[in-house]
Amino acid sequence: MAVNLKRSSGGQGSVKVSRRRMLGWLSGVGLVGSGVLSAISNFVFIKPRATYGQPQRFSIGKPEDYPSGTRMALDARRICVVREGNKLAAVSTTCTHLGCIVGISDTGYACPCHGSRFDQDGNVTGGPAPRPLPWYKVTLAPNGELEVDKDIEIQPGSYLTL
Ligand code: FES
Repeated sequence: MAVNLKRSSGGQGSVKVSRRRMLGWLSGVGLVGSGVLSAISNFVFIKPRATYGQPQRFSIGKPEDYPSGTRMALDARRICVVREGNKLAAVSTTCTHLGCIVGISDTGYACPCHGSRFDQDGNVTGGPAPRPLPWYKVTLAPNGELEVDKDIEIQPGSYLTL
């Protein structure tokens, strides 16, 4: 059986396209279209959607930025830099209860969310926090800057000696 198609321009005569040819053309279009869609969906699936947070290893400046007696909270980094004489440490300021940022208090650290309290070394002294505040490894880089690595927790009370 043949299908009659009228020419859109010129208006002269008509083109006869067989049903077989028409179905072949439509299936070809369908095949190519499904191939393109499959390729796009594979690309979308393979492409990583992970978003990476802040780097866990970062510089916090020079030792002279933290004179002896300093307890300086760096909220953007969620650490508190503690310096006593020639010893320096970085204590986490992320509450071990539900992750609020703890503030510095007279006796150590205090969480504004549910009232957890920690001593100067980060040990829990009250409230619902289940664990002490971690201490992170601090090193002195070759360029003279202090580097904190939040991927490496160290024993509380372990200071970097400058
Ligand atoms: S998040 Fe700090 S006490 Fe709950």
